[in-house]
Amino acid sequence: MVKTTFKIALDGPSGSGKSTLAKNLAKRYGFVYIDTGALYRTIGLFVCERGIASDDKAGIISCLPDIKIEMKLENGGGAVYLGGKRIGDEIRTPVISKYASDVSKIPEVRAFLLETQRSIARENNVIMDGRDIGTVILPDAQIKLFVTASPEARAKRRYNELCERGVETSYEEVLADMKWRDANDSGREIAPAIPAPDAILFDNSGMTIEETVENAAEIIDKVYNK
Ligand code: DC
Repeated sequence: MVKTTFKIALDGPSGSGKSTLAKNLAKRYGFVYIDTGALYRTIGLFVCERGIASDDKAGIISCLPDIKIEMKLENGGGAVYLGGKRIGDEIRTPVISKYASDVSKIPEVRAFLLETQRSIARENNVIMDGRDIGTVILPDAQIKLFVTASPEARAKRRYNELCERGVETSYEEVLADMKWRDANDSGREIAPAIPAPDAILFDNSGMTIEETVENAAEIIDKVYNK
């Protein structure tokens, strides 16, 4: 018998606060949190370590058969493993962010990661954070939220986060990087980061994390009965 699971798709641009929101909601509802960006970042890391340029499409595609990527359930979330090794913060650097954005434009890469994402949602109630979850990965998700905030608000959040982690950068640099990634992610031909027709648009520019979580929970509570 096919199991019916509850799926929440959380899409939106980088720095919109999706991952913080998704983690909070996953805890609140007891859902599994899946960060799909981590999968693209891990492909980016593999390609970068092989010394292949991020715009070398043929080179990237030729790597795919060698990439053994898995997502395992750990502490209520999906942990990424590459060749049996647990992946951590090494995929969060600016260089790997650029690699991730570039590899994610390649249809073969997206197809390669499709089943990994879908299989988890077949077995578990999930809240999945990404760019194309509501449009491509889980078009049957019961709730689809498209989270946005102005580029300036998102850059300010990302800048503060990087400062806290001791990364040396400037607000201007973070804002420029954010705008480049927005254009690269939403302007691409395949699975662009755009809202599904049935997604609820959720702008959290002026909201604190707590307000964002409460507002999203209000939307979810109308559809999901614990
Ligand atoms: O969410 P993130 O910033 O960690 O994602 C890294 C990159 O991966 C981002 O530039 C766009 C891409 N991505 C994607 O194309 N589709 C997804 N579902 C998730 C991320």
